[in-house]
Amino acid sequence: MPGPGAYLIGEEEYNEVVDVLKSKHIPRYGSDDDPSFRQKVFTLEKEFAAAMGTQYSVAVNSGTSALMASLVALGIGHGDEVLVPGYTFIASISSIIAVGGTPVLVEVDESLTMDPSDMEKKISAKTKAVMPVHMLGMPCDMKSICGIAGRKKISIVEDCCQALGGTYGGKRLGSLGDMGAYSLNVYKVISAGDAGILVTNNKNLYERAFGFHDQGHLPYRKGVEIGNRSLIGINMRMNELTGAFALAQLRKLERILGLLREKKTRFKNAIAGAGLKGMHFRTVNDPGECHTLLTVIFESTELAERAASALGTKTLNKSGWHVYNNMEQMIAYRDIEGKQHIWKNMLPGTDDILSRSLNLSVGVVDGGIGSDFGITIVAGNDEIDRTAEKFIKLVRPVTG
Ligand SMILES: Cc1ncc(COP(=O)(O)O)c(C=O)c1O
Repeated sequence: MPGPGAYLIGEEEYNEVVDVLKSKHIPRYGSDDDPSFRQKVFTLEKEFAAAMGTQYSVAVNSGTSALMASLVALGIGHGDEVLVPGYTFIASISSIIAVGGTPVLVEVDESLTMDPSDMEKKISAKTKAVMPVHMLGMPCDMKSICGIAGRKKISIVEDCCQALGGTYGGKRLGSLGDMGAYSLNVYKVISAGDAGILVTNNKNLYERAFGFHDQGHLPYRKGVEIGNRSLIGINMRMNELTGAFALAQLRKLERILGLLREKKTRFKNAIAGAGLKGMHFRTVNDPGECHTLLTVIFESTELAERAASALGTKTLNKSGWHVYNNMEQMIAYRDIEGKQHIWKNMLPGTDDILSRSLNLSVGVVDGGIGSDFGITIVAGNDEIDRTAEKFIKLVRPVTG
């Protein structure tokens, strides 16, 4: 099953999409004086930037595209190193390689986001950017990360793909760095099936990202524009049907975030109240987290494995998708000079934490991140209480 936005698909999405279908105008561009042009993608960009507290946004076809366009906008290319955590979806790393850069893996701490002290250690003369990933809905320690990046003069691309709508210090994630990238795939806070979007406050970065997403064109072209293209781009455009769907979901964002907060708080408090020994919750860097998952960390791998087997789930090191150790193609990857950058067990701190952690679902139900056990955004209080009791009943014999 999917992420929170997908559970709440209803009339609003239907009406927005049908509006476009009836108009028969499907591509993102059109003329202002054409009544059949509903401007869904333009409206989405405008409302999204306003919701994130940024000046600009570019809608694209995936979160991966949003990351790539952000990196290109910042001028990342051959020989440039980008710091990225070893616990993240593969696209954070592959987007760096796809634009010609070199990923440098950084440890995560007990928030399961980038460890700022390891980040600082991994900076070299070739480091051009850092990609903090707000993993599992949790804001990174942005105070430390922005401080280090500022001192070392490196750019920040926030990977907000799993944390759309979250805040840090009262500011929306994605608005703290130079660029912010979001995914609207089916597992995300809001979804349009497959789509992405990026934000920035910098006009030049905006124009470059926009250009990369559409063959080098300047924003809001009204037709083929020859003579004005400043960089080489590709095609990552969003169409009006996707834009319409995403717009309806965006307008539900506050409701979704409110529901997630309410349900996670009840679920977490019920488990915390049992006083189970040998386990604790992951570090919360800011209460503005998205509340999509509840992560528990055990004192030892053995306890975590026994708890996982009682719950019918997996420890995070075995959860598949998001663990660098399990990315066989990254480990096999050699750059143009034949150099290997990612190898098994290169991040002992991350390996240890992941082997002791379990994800419980709150709004994201995804075996790929190990959240087979837990609740959903539509769970009522009874179901939340019953699931918490079941967790306690199954884990108490393991931990005491
Ligand atoms: C942390 C992270 N980064 C990037 C992506 C890529 O997004 P998409 O699947 O929309 O390309 C995802 C999506 O799973 C993600 O979770």
